[in-house]
Amino acid sequence: MYIKPLTWTSAVLLSFCVLTPAQAETGNVAQGKQMAAVCAACHQQDGSGKNNAGAEPWPRLAGLDAGYIQKQLTEFKSGKRANATMKPFAMMLNSQQAANVAAYYASLPVPAANPVAPTEAQQSLGKKLAQRGDWDRYIPACNSCHGPDALGVGSSFPALAGQHAGYIAQQLKAWREGKRSNDPQDLMLAVASRMNDADIDAVSAWLAHQPAVK
Ligand code: HEC
Ligand code: HEC
Repeated sequence: MYIKPLTWTSAVLLSFCVLTPAQAETGNVAQGKQMAAVCAACHQQDGSGKNNAGAEPWPRLAGLDAGYIQKQLTEFKSGKRANATMKPFAMMLNSQQAANVAAYYASLPVPAANPVAPTEAQQSLGKKLAQRGDWDRYIPACNSCHGPDALGVGSSFPALAGQHAGYIAQQLKAWREGKRSNDPQDLMLAVASRMNDADIDAVSAWLAHQPAVK
């Protein structure tokens, strides 16, 4: 597949001009908390998720943006984001219930994580890709969209700092292989398709190890 080189300027322009944030309904945190009982088996009671090395990782939801969570639930339900594990749980929720559960997870404090430290090689490559990108290979810095310190920007750009490494890596590979395609303007496809496995492992390990709150 041919993908246009994404320049820094176009990355920034796309991210700040073209994306219209998902229209989130207002969620009720107390009702969302009740609904979240069925999610805890995987996402855990405190929303911390689990890295599940060698198996399907469960992303941390605590402290993610409510509009972003709601977008993902809507898209698991419609099939725009395909995942066999999540689909039945998204199907249980009407849009008000999705808004409620999104508001609940967004309201939770980010639990302390204890990720495996990146190796020295991952540390320098991961940090470089996250903060500066690699312009020889048209890889833009993650932080140019996901925000300084990768803490997320609004409902469009999810927080990556402190997310599970296994989950970050799995999503990048899913984009690269055409298995996830719900990103606006194919922004993540353009990034992930230029990354090799070593890049993905390094940036995932590095991001997972960054503080999730400032
Ligand atoms: C059986 C395990 C399981 C249960 C129960 C479960 N999930 Fe998930 N969830 C997953 C997995 C696995 C993923 C990652 C899917 C992927 O790789 O695309 C995920 C992903 C998500 C995401 C996307 C997060 C992101 O950062 O993009 C959201 C939001 C979510 N789940 C919400 C929920 C809610 C709300 C419930 C309860 C109504 C729930 N999940 C129940 C396993 C589960
Ligand atoms: C041009 C902007 C842009 C750049 C640069 C970018 N991303 Fe993204 N990223 C996005 C958008 C937009 C989404 C949300 C997709 C959606 O709505 O489902 C996203 C989502 C993600 C997700 C899914 C998170 C979740 O909770 O499901 C991961 C993982 C991710 N990006 C990793 C990276 C990494 C690592 C880099 C750097 C190598 C990077 N991104 C660079 C725009 C960007």
